[in-house]
Amino acid sequence: MSKITAAITAVGGYVPEYVLTNKILETMVETNDEWITSRTGIKERRILKEDGKGTSYLAIKAAEDLIQKKGLDPKEIDLVIVCTASPDMKAASTAAYTATEIGAVNAFSYDLEAACSSFLFGMSTASAYIESGRYKKILLIGADKNSSFINYKDRATCIIFGDGAGAVLFEPNEEGLGLQDELLRSNGEGREFLQATYGGSSYPINKDTFEEGKHYVFQDGKTVFKNAVFNMADVAEKIMKRNDLVNDDIAWLAAHQANKRIIDATANRIKLEDDKVMMNIQRYGNTTSATLPLLLFDYESQLKKGDKIIFAAFGGGFTWGSIYFKWAYNS
Ligand code: UT7
Repeated sequence: MSKITAAITAVGGYVPEYVLTNKILETMVETNDEWITSRTGIKERRILKEDGKGTSYLAIKAAEDLIQKKGLDPKEIDLVIVCTASPDMKAASTAAYTATEIGAVNAFSYDLEAACSSFLFGMSTASAYIESGRYKKILLIGADKNSSFINYKDRATCIIFGDGAGAVLFEPNEEGLGLQDELLRSNGEGREFLQATYGGSSYPINKDTFEEGKHYVFQDGKTVFKNAVFNMADVAEKIMKRNDLVNDDIAWLAAHQANKRIIDATANRIKLEDDKVMMNIQRYGNTTSATLPLLLFDYESQLKKGDKIIFAAFGGGFTWGSIYFKWAYNS
């Protein structure tokens, strides 16, 4: 019997309606469209505005899109993983709420958090379950409502982040398609350079800490930038080398959308032409856990069965990695 591999068999996505353009940001902080576009590649991002709606709202919408397109009976789903750095609430699983709301009543569910690498690491987790033969249908969702912890007076962060969600279905494959190899890493020395300090267990928010504003995300952009460029390119290059892949073999690079310059640097290192580099940062900004599935959502119609894709991500922690993947269907 051939080895079971873990393939993606359906994709869904959702971004909120409200569009926060660079022009609007010019009225909020000291910045301009030219600076944002040339330094990041971002033109606009989507923001979930309505009070009381959290990350699960985005996750549910993306999952429902997938379910409807695939004609999937949600009762058949075994496991729902919500990859997120912005859970709805503390103590209550966002994934449990999401699974119940979409009718995945026979599934168990949990959240997975590795900052901007959450979805990439989730691909590894979902694939391992499928390869083990234990589960047959795993819904992997990447969703973040970044606007919930962005300071819209801080021009170093508010121009970058947006809200959104993407979902993929993992199923067993007997043609050898799906996840081929992975190279995943982390280094806790990086946490001081990208974090929201207050509001977690180390420093709970009280009225004094609230005044300081450190419940908002902060980053030392230059240090994060340098580490992202070096590490994402490094793992992408290594995973290609150890799988005897050269640039002509690769159909697509699906890289975390944090900054167009970081994506370009990764593509340059593995010598990939622009038309093989998935890019939607101009429309959504950095949606943290949602960037990779939203790329698949936007590019699904162009993907062909057997296409070799290099995934790569880098995020807070630091966390980073690369996955070599073979696409399993024509849409
Ligand atoms: O997904 C998780 C990982 N996150 C990332 O990968 C983000 C990595 N970092 C970055 O993408 C970039 O570092 C940023 C986009 C955040 C910043 O770009 P940069 O080219 O590194 O700019 P910088 O921070 O070195 O700032 C250069 C100048 C500074 O002015 P001075 O000191 O040279 O006078 C900043 O104050 O640009 C200024 N600046 C801005 N100007 C206009 C910073 N933010 C802005 C802004 N508009 N929004």
